[in-house]
Amino acid sequence: MGQGADFRRSAAGKISASYCLCSPTEKGNFLVVELCQSQVRTLLVTLYGDGNMSPSMVYKIFNLPEGITQGKGEALFDFIAQCLSHFLAETIRSDPSKAEERLPVGFVFPFTCRQTQLDKAELLSWSKGFNCNDVLGKDVVELLQSAINKQEVGLCHMDVVALMNDTVGTMMTCSTEARPCEVAMIVGETWAYLVETADETSGRMCVNTEWGCFGDDGTLNDIITPYDECVDVESSNPGEKRFEKMVGTLYLGEIVRHALIGLTAEKAIFTGTDIGVLREKGVFTMHNEEGTTEVKRILEVLGLQPSERDCGRVQQICRAVVGRAATLHATGLAAILSYMCQTRDMETLMVNVGMDGELYKGYRRLLSPECMATLLPSRDGSGRGAAMVTAVALRLAALRREVNEVLAPLRLSRADLEKVQALMREEMERGLGKETNATASVRMLPTYVSHTPDGTERGDFLALDLGGTNFRVLVVRVTEEGITMASEIYVIPVSIMQGTGEALFDHIIDCIIDFQTKQNLVTDMLPLGFTFSFPCQQMGLDKALLLTWTKGFSASGCVGQDVVQLLRDAARRMQVVALVNDTVGTMMACGYDDPKCEIGLIVGTGTNACYMEEMRNMGTVEGDQGRMCINMEWGAFGDNGCLDHLFTHFDQVVDQSTINPGKQRFEKLISGMYLGEIVRQILMAMTEKHLLFQGKLSSKLQTKNIFQTKFLSTIELSNGLALRQIQAILNELEIEASFEDSVLLREVCQTVSLRAAQLCAAGLAAVVEKMRENQGLEQLSVTVGVDGTLYKLHPCFSTNLQNTLKDLAPNCNVSFMPSEDGSGKGAALVAAVASRAANAME
Ligand code: G6P
Ligand code: BGC
Repeated sequence: MGQGADFRRSAAGKISASYCLCSPTEKGNFLVVELCQSQVRTLLVTLYGDGNMSPSMVYKIFNLPEGITQGKGEALFDFIAQCLSHFLAETIRSDPSKAEERLPVGFVFPFTCRQTQLDKAELLSWSKGFNCNDVLGKDVVELLQSAINKQEVGLCHMDVVALMNDTVGTMMTCSTEARPCEVAMIVGETWAYLVETADETSGRMCVNTEWGCFGDDGTLNDIITPYDECVDVESSNPGEKRFEKMVGTLYLGEIVRHALIGLTAEKAIFTGTDIGVLREKGVFTMHNEEGTTEVKRILEVLGLQPSERDCGRVQQICRAVVGRAATLHATGLAAILSYMCQTRDMETLMVNVGMDGELYKGYRRLLSPECMATLLPSRDGSGRGAAMVTAVALRLAALRREVNEVLAPLRLSRADLEKVQALMREEMERGLGKETNATASVRMLPTYVSHTPDGTERGDFLALDLGGTNFRVLVVRVTEEGITMASEIYVIPVSIMQGTGEALFDHIIDCIIDFQTKQNLVTDMLPLGFTFSFPCQQMGLDKALLLTWTKGFSASGCVGQDVVQLLRDAARRMQVVALVNDTVGTMMACGYDDPKCEIGLIVGTGTNACYMEEMRNMGTVEGDQGRMCINMEWGAFGDNGCLDHLFTHFDQVVDQSTINPGKQRFEKLISGMYLGEIVRQILMAMTEKHLLFQGKLSSKLQTKNIFQTKFLSTIELSNGLALRQIQAILNELEIEASFEDSVLLREVCQTVSLRAAQLCAAGLAAVVEKMRENQGLEQLSVTVGVDGTLYKLHPCFSTNLQNTLKDLAPNCNVSFMPSEDGSGKGAALVAAVASRAANAME
């Protein structure tokens, strides 16, 4: 079985190169063009797709015109394109069946490139005598494609679909059924690249080590001889590719020439002979194992008159130079094999090493003893392997197109986000307007909180915190020195969340009594602040009618009721002084430490925001003076249909499966309660299309809510080694996944969480822009107090949110302050102000 390389950009923007299996079913005609030192080789390979590892091949070689390797890049690429079209025209003439609509082309380009995809490769440096400077930094695939486009081929179109180093092609060619080839070396002519599969746990990564550059940092100085120095100084790239200059045949002749010059100066050779000719660069080329007669002939052709002894010495020098090259190669290979052996935790490594070039004999004895490497000569260079890579590239490109089709509706453009921002602004205005409030999807609810904390709040308070992942009871002590708290988490079983209101409030009271007992607070009648994270129409700080349940709650008999009263009914002794939404609690808690905190944001099980609005803008509350905190209840944004253009098929399915279909539509695109389920829907659709898990749907994956949002955090954090964790999650879901599946799964998660962060940013942009306008400022500086499991635990959510916000609201300087200890603390601060006011009244 052969393998193909697939180079993809990872989330972090780093380059990763991954293998994907090249199945024996790859089939079709593939053109390969290989740029060699002095030639362009063209090859047409037909893969039959029946597992037959001997594809048919036709090839033609073209010599590079003099000087083209050092001239303009355009001329070089035009020439390569001409070779291709000549070759193609000839091939098609002899076999018209090869005339196809589009022929995929694989480009073997043996120079140092930064490759970000199979068909994107920026040239970093030339070597081997090539020096078309204007190509440096450019995408060579693009250059070849545009050169091809200029050719009038007429018969069929050629698409460059993959670029690869010659080592990659060689490695593919040398794979066998029993053992895939995992290392390839080119040790012939002039280059010395090496490819290996890196750490197995990170999937299968094909790394081009470009080991020709080894030693450029001085590491090889100890073994560099004066002859190597001379060769380097005279080369077109002094100081670079020091290892390659000790082992590549282009340089071996030069090393010998300088050694001979040195020995002649010391009168150890060619005494009495004029050796002027030896000062000419390039007079020597290396050939393997030449007998002394041949050496004599070569030296005489150069005009030297060598003695028998001279010939013997020259031969010895040649052997020493070639021997050193072989030893250095073997040492490098041994290092790599040992590394592979170690990282795979294996006692013995069995591996195939694909070899091309002439200098590879006699390696085995030099290799690391724990590694059993079979050196396989590459029978037909890198051509066949290159065709396989091209075939895989083609398959991957088709796969990519389908994946993009599925994910496209979830990818938002800047214009989409600007539209969301504008719509949010419109809905905010409607929510604030007396006449429009009733039909606005963003309710903009008054909270009766008119100030952020000023540090004068004092007292001991009980606090309840209901509506997030945890239900908490707290005691909060606010003193001159600061705030101290103690708290306990209690469970609210689903049966109670979705039972009767009476049972829910009885349960809450039981928890409070338990807490008071544990904290020795039974006899104290502490004022209570209640964080209640659901939409309420407040009539005052201690009167709040529940508008609707969200986030999976549905306790009966509560909607339309005053929640404070329900609590008082359950236990008459409760002195409830204030009810706040969690956004308000968060803003207040953070405001205690940062006076600029005038916005509260929650991105957790649900999502919502509050901010300080001018009374004069609020048509729903009497009075024009001062400010009041508005609980936006933005989770319901879009419930009136204004976001319908954004909802994908997956969002519709998720919405329909909730207990409140059609409600909280914005929340269902953003918050933790829904993201995992959106991902699960996408995974199922992709599996059905055979883009994932070989088309096999496990029954577990078909279970609602099985894919938790916390998986997104783990999966998106994973790269390299941590891909193991993705596998662990998938194993739990009884899914057998390949490395490619894991990478695609990560992409799905990234797409869903990025969209959530961007939408959240668009909402927030509308808020900060409104605050800036309210205050008539050119530039607004404001802090957002923020809480919620998704915001806090997801590895990229907060960064994506902040970056998008900067982009959408460039005139606002927004800092984010994660709330340390939840919004219960904020509820206590509000309670402090309320009880101070109540005491003053008394
Ligand atoms: C804060 C509050 C909760 C709130 C939560 C959101 O910590 O104290 O009342 O609902 O954040 O987070 P979650 O991710 O648990 O929904
Ligand atoms: C609720 C809000 C709450 C938010 C975050 C939403 O479902 O309607 O009141 O602030 O979740 O917890």
